[in-house]
Amino acid sequence: EQDPRIRRIASSIRVVPDFPKKGIMFQDITTLLLDPKAFKDTADLFVERYTGKGISVVAGVEARGFIFGPPIALAIGAKFIPLRKPRKLPGEVISENYVLEYGTDCLQMHVDAVQPGERALVVDDLIATGGTLCAAISLLERAGAEVVECACVIELPELKGREKLNGKPLYILMESH
Ligand code: PRP
Repeated sequence: EQDPRIRRIASSIRVVPDFPKKGIMFQDITTLLLDPKAFKDTADLFVERYTGKGISVVAGVEARGFIFGPPIALAIGAKFIPLRKPRKLPGEVISENYVLEYGTDCLQMHVDAVQPGERALVVDDLIATGGTLCAAISLLERAGAEVVECACVIELPELKGREKLNGKPLYILMESH
C-alpha cells in the first residue's frame, strides 16, 4: 500500500488558510524543508522511481521546482534545467504563456539546454489547475525532448489539472483537499 514515508512528509507540510488570498488553502512546503528526514525521503521516493529510466533531463519549474528538482537530477545522473518566469534567462529562450485565475503568466527555457530525443522529467511542488505543468511540457517538447513523466509532491485533485496534461503521466506523493 502507501509508503510509510509519505505520512511523515504529509504531516510536515503546513496548510495556511486564506493565503495568499481568501479561500485558498496554501500548501506550505517550507516546513517540509525544515525536517531533514522528510526532505530526504521526498527526494528518495522520486529517485527510486526514476533511477535507471534513461532520463537525462530534470526540468524544474520556478520557484519550488528548483528545490525538489536538483536533488533528483544529481542522484539519477541527469542535468537540471530551470524553467523560469520571463526575463530571467540571459540566453536565447522559447516561451509558453499560460492562464492563471486572473490573467496570464509565462515560462521560459534556454533553447540550447536540451537536445532532440532527450528523455525529460518535469518537477514541481504542486499541481493545481495544471496550467504550469502544461506550459513546461510544451517547452520541452518544442525543443525536441520526450517528456517521460511529471512529478509533484502534492496534487489538488478537485481542480482536475491532470486533465490538462494531454495524457502525459503525472506521479504525485499525495493528494490535498
Ligand atoms: C505554484 C506552484 C506551481 C503552480 C501550480 O507556483 O508552485 O508551480 O503554482 O499551479 P497550476 O497547476 O494552477 O498552474 P506559483 O505560480 O505560485 O509561482 P512561485 O512558485 O514562483 O511562487
